[in-house]
Formats: sequence, structure tokens, C-alpha cells
Amino acid sequence: MRFKDKVVIVTGGAKGIGEAAVRAFSAEGAAVVIADVDDAAGEALARSLPRATFVHTDVSRMADAERAVRTAEETYGGLDALFSNAGIQLYGLIEEVSEVDYERGMGVNFKGHVWMCKYAVPALRRRGGGAIVCTSSVQALATQTTVPIYAASKAATLTLVKAIAIDHAHEGIRVNAVLPGSVDTPMLRGAAATFAPDDVEATVARWGKMHPIGRVIKPEEIARLVLFLCSDDAKACTGAAYLVDGGLMAKLPVVLPD
Ligand SMILES: NC(=O)c1ccc[n+]([C@@H]2O[C@H](COP(=O)([O-])OP(=O)(O)OC[C@H]3O[C@@H](n4cnc5c(N)ncnc54)[C@H](O)[C@@H]3O)[C@@H](O)[C@H]2O)c1
Repeated sequence: MRFKDKVVIVTGGAKGIGEAAVRAFSAEGAAVVIADVDDAAGEALARSLPRATFVHTDVSRMADAERAVRTAEETYGGLDALFSNAGIQLYGLIEEVSEVDYERGMGVNFKGHVWMCKYAVPALRRRGGGAIVCTSSVQALATQTTVPIYAASKAATLTLVKAIAIDHAHEGIRVNAVLPGSVDTPMLRGAAATFAPDDVEATVARWGKMHPIGRVIKPEEIARLVLFLCSDDAKACTGAAYLVDGGLMAKLPVVLPD
């Protein structure tokens, strides 16, 4: 019960990694604000938990981010942690990127963290300190093909995290990033369905085999790291990027001859 009497916001909390984090925070006693654009999934999840509220939030919109933070303070009396996790995947070569794709990709994956942190930092300060975790990706460090905007948005997130962390460390506000490898979520399955509509299971399994642990990561395994980083056990952790990638970034694609 590390989060008894604590209040947490999870963006992108209706599905995937965010949903796993919402359930994990709730299981450890937190009141949770689920901030997402999927009203049906977010409201159903909130209804299934003891102290949870859904608030429609498009993180790319400043006013929505402010409303999410205000909801936490008005409903539960304050804010102790933000898991800024909402993100979307975009595929395409740089020459194919439209203005709409660019605005959407950077809007959700990067600007979303900017707006959520902008309103979370003063709320955490009013509480005497707290923690923020932003979801980046292994693609911030090395990228697959056809994801220039996605990868750039994830790399920009790392720098944003460091900058906010050093500005607010003296106030007891810690800011970190998590960098997942391939995680079994609707996003990953959607990607598999795009490239191999008749072969989703096998495609996910093949992506899993590329990770040294031999499988894709479970959303709950990302949530465990997020909860650690938001807990008092991580009081000395700030401004850092934490891989949870099944060894993917440790691996060179070199195969020795038999
Ligand atoms: N799944 C992976 O393999 C993987 C790997 C590395 C990083 N990530 C990152 O993890 C995060 C979560 O991904 P996921 O796999 O759980 O995705 P998902 O698509 O399964 O879930 C994402 C959630 O975010 C919500 N969302 C989308 N746009 C939003 C917006 N504008 N405002 C608020 N909410 C919005 C969706 O409704 C959904 O509930 C993303 O930032 C993603 O880039 C995922």
C-alpha cells in the first residue's frame, strides 16, 4: 500500500500501459484520475475501481491538461504523482509526413508531456513535493524504420524530463522517464494488424523474439517500474531514463558463425 492517501493522474490511462498503471496504483491504495480521450473505456475502468475518476483529456490541449490536474485537486484534495503516458504511433517516411501528422504526433507524444507537467508541477508543489514519470521509448535511443516523428517525439521527451527535473529537484519534485521495448498493448497489436492483418499473434511473437528475454513485455511490468519511480523508495532518482526493454538496447544484431 505504498500509495495509501496518495492521488495520482495517469494519462492514456484507459488502455494498455496506462490501464495497467491505473490498476496497480489503485491496488496500492491510490485515488486515481484517469485522463484519456477514450471516454467509454476510461469511464468503465474508473467505475470498476474503489477511488477513481475519469476525465476526458486530450493531452495535446493545454486546457484539457489543466482540467485533469484541477479534477485531481478538487476531487481528492491534491496531487502526489503524475504518470504522463498518453501516446500514439505514426508510421511513414519523412517525405510522407503531413502537417496534420506532425502536429498530431508531436502534439500528443511531446506537447502532451509539456502541458501535463506545466499544471502538475505547481500542484505537486502545493502538496510539498511528488513525482512525475513520462513515457518515452527505446525509440528515443535507436529507431526502427519509418517512425521519424514518433522517434523524435520520444527523444524530445527525454530532454524535457531532464530539464524539468533539475529545475524542481530542490522542491522535492522528481521527474523521470521510462523507455519501454515492445509491450503487449492495443497499440502494439494495432501495429501488428497494420503490417500483418492475418498474422497478428505470430507477428507479436516474432517481435518478442527480437528481445533477449524472448518475448514482448507485459504492461504490468512497465507499471511496476512506474510505481517504484513514484514511490518513496525512489527518493534519490530524478532526471533519469529507465529502460524496461527485455534487454533490447543491450543487443547488437551480430550473429557469430556456428
Ligand atoms: N506498446 C509499446 O510497445 C510501447 C513501446 C514503447 C513506448 N510506448 C509508449 O507507451 C505509451 C502507452 O502506449 P500503449 O502501448 O499503452 O498504447 P495504447 O494505444 O494501447 O494506449 C494508449 C492510451 O492513450 C490514449 N490516448 C491516445 N491519444 C490521447 C490523447 N491525445 N490524450 C489522452 N489520451 C490519449 C488512448 O485512448 C489509450 O487509452 C505511449 O506513450 C507509447 O508511445 C509503447
